[in-house]
Amino acid sequence: MTPELPPVMDEEQLAAVLDLPKVELHLHHEGAAPPEFIRRLGQEKSINLTGVFNPDGSYAFHDFAHFLSVYEAATQVLKTPEDYARLTTAVLEESAANGVIYCETFLSPDFCGGGDVGAWREYLHAIRDAADAAERAHGIVLRGIVTCIRHFGPYRAKAPALCAAETAGDWIVGFGMGGDETMGKQKDFAWPFDLAREAGLQLTTHAGEWRGPAEVRSAIEDLRVTRVGHGVRAIEDLALVDLIAERGIVLEVCPVSNVTLKVYPNMAAHPIEELRKRGVTVTVSTDDPPFFHTNMRREYHNLAKTFGWSAEQFSELARTSARAAFCNDETKSALLKRLETP
Ligand code: ADE
Ligand code: ZN
Repeated sequence: MTPELPPVMDEEQLAAVLDLPKVELHLHHEGAAPPEFIRRLGQEKSINLTGVFNPDGSYAFHDFAHFLSVYEAATQVLKTPEDYARLTTAVLEESAANGVIYCETFLSPDFCGGGDVGAWREYLHAIRDAADAAERAHGIVLRGIVTCIRHFGPYRAKAPALCAAETAGDWIVGFGMGGDETMGKQKDFAWPFDLAREAGLQLTTHAGEWRGPAEVRSAIEDLRVTRVGHGVRAIEDLALVDLIAERGIVLEVCPVSNVTLKVYPNMAAHPIEELRKRGVTVTVSTDDPPFFHTNMRREYHNLAKTFGWSAEQFSELARTSARAAFCNDETKSALLKRLETP
């Protein structure tokens, strides 16, 4: 049987789709730093960044483990609350230029003050001030999700969880975990996730990016998350896909990240469309945009070209993402209202 071809969108319709207002739920704050920004800060502080950049100035990495080590090397230049304020301004200018009107960003107290609650408060204050200024200038709304880092181990995850619990509220709205999924078990991190849940935070964790469906199941059952970072390898267990769909668990899918890091060989092989067709709530994000040479416009472009998603599907995607946001009801209603009127 010949496969069904996606309907063709003409260039004018595609341009209109790329201009649609967008909601992004999965973005790593340091991972969104433009390479020029990191290079400039490194020069100002005389920090040696050998190995971080390719000769053309882009970030240099050849696989996921290398990506994580380059990410951490680049992060060394971010040493003060002021550095994070500057980073926030740069990131939000870029996101707003790509039509993002609401964004949730992953913030790691391990990088912002080394896990000390007092220092974390100072970083957070600087980030929020910069975010408020960006909202006034560009209309983009930012909220934070505190993350622990899996390959630092469960013991070191306690400090970020405490930082999250101490600052939980209308701005820090969630707790999560990034880092190397091939190390340890989701279940080892139950304590930090329980603490964050009891502080009123909503939960997400990276799962099913590098390991298979069992990891996604464990994220849902052992950490009781309502959103999963990536989660795409759930497709390898259709009973799990049904459970994700029935429970309304939201997947934070980052297609270009997955293709760049070779989880899938190309966009056509990516399971986002299959997951969507099977009733899973999928959202679309960039993960670490300059590392993967992406942005939200590029994600939309690829989805339109590969799967033939229509303008109405992209509008519905933004509303679905807004409903899945961790922000309070007031912020969510205002966001949904902005998405009603093109
Ligand atoms: N930290 C930054 N990007 C990540 C990714 N794609 N997976 C896990 N941890 C990350
Ligand atoms: Zn991620």
